[in-house]
Amino acid sequence: MSSVYWDGRRFVGKEEIRISPDDRGYYFGDGVYEVFRVYGGRLYEPKAHFDRLVRTADGLRLKLPLSVEAIEENLTRLIAHNRLSEGTVYMQITRGAAPRSHPFPQEAEPVVLAYCNEVPRPAASMEAGIKAITVPDIRWLRCDYKTLNLLPNVLAKQEALDAGAQDAILHRDGTVTECSASNIMIVKDGAVVTHPADNWILHGVTRGVVLRLARASEIETIERAFTVEELLNADEAFITGTTVEVTPVVAVDGQAIDNGSPGPVTRRLQREFAATIG
Ligand code: PDD
Repeated sequence: MSSVYWDGRRFVGKEEIRISPDDRGYYFGDGVYEVFRVYGGRLYEPKAHFDRLVRTADGLRLKLPLSVEAIEENLTRLIAHNRLSEGTVYMQITRGAAPRSHPFPQEAEPVVLAYCNEVPRPAASMEAGIKAITVPDIRWLRCDYKTLNLLPNVLAKQEALDAGAQDAILHRDGTVTECSASNIMIVKDGAVVTHPADNWILHGVTRGVVLRLARASEIETIERAFTVEELLNADEAFITGTTVEVTPVVAVDGQAIDNGSPGPVTRRLQREFAATIG
């Protein structure tokens, strides 16, 4: 855990951070967040993360207290203060503190919180793959906004762990959307298939990178919704995300995907992804 935090103005120790009990993040989950990957002491794909942050803030009608350029500069300083080489930066911005009442407060200033975590690359699960279960996607209609409201994601993840699996694959009436904290892709007859970037999924930064890498490798990519049945009958399946990178899914609901070991397209994309890290 990092020792230096950024509160939007200063770099301070965790114990110096003062968050009001009236913060709307606490009452309503009224805020935006991003999880950035740091490789070699640098933010990975910062532009894609900041574009999504701005899109979410616009969607929530939450005015960012600083320009994207100023935020990026401060996150870079945060990484330096913490001497972080490999890990993540977590940042959230809430609508601010005001007595609990649903309408936007007149006076409140957005509250920023950012810190680093030292996190190694997930070598073991990328090598062996993970087991997942399917659970109904009970989220709202704007899953493309990266907001602090993550209760359905939390419940799905815990359900997976309680079932002895590592993650939960979400579906709406049998149509696969994404996972508790990652996107999902399948491989069928050599093509990579993944849910389109619409309101039903988070537009993952890693998802975008992997699709780009697949196209550059002349692997066909198809952005369309697929069913749980197609997933179970896929040649390969893998999840993508800032913390999981490209992680194979080798079993779903107790059923092996193909022969139950990571497939060649997944392996290829893992190598291509690793090459982007430098
Ligand atoms: N989660 N889908 C969901 C629901 C997510 O929460 C995430 C990321 C992703 C992958 O997006 P990206 O490739 O930009 O990380 C997809 C972060 C890591 C989290 O909440 O911890």
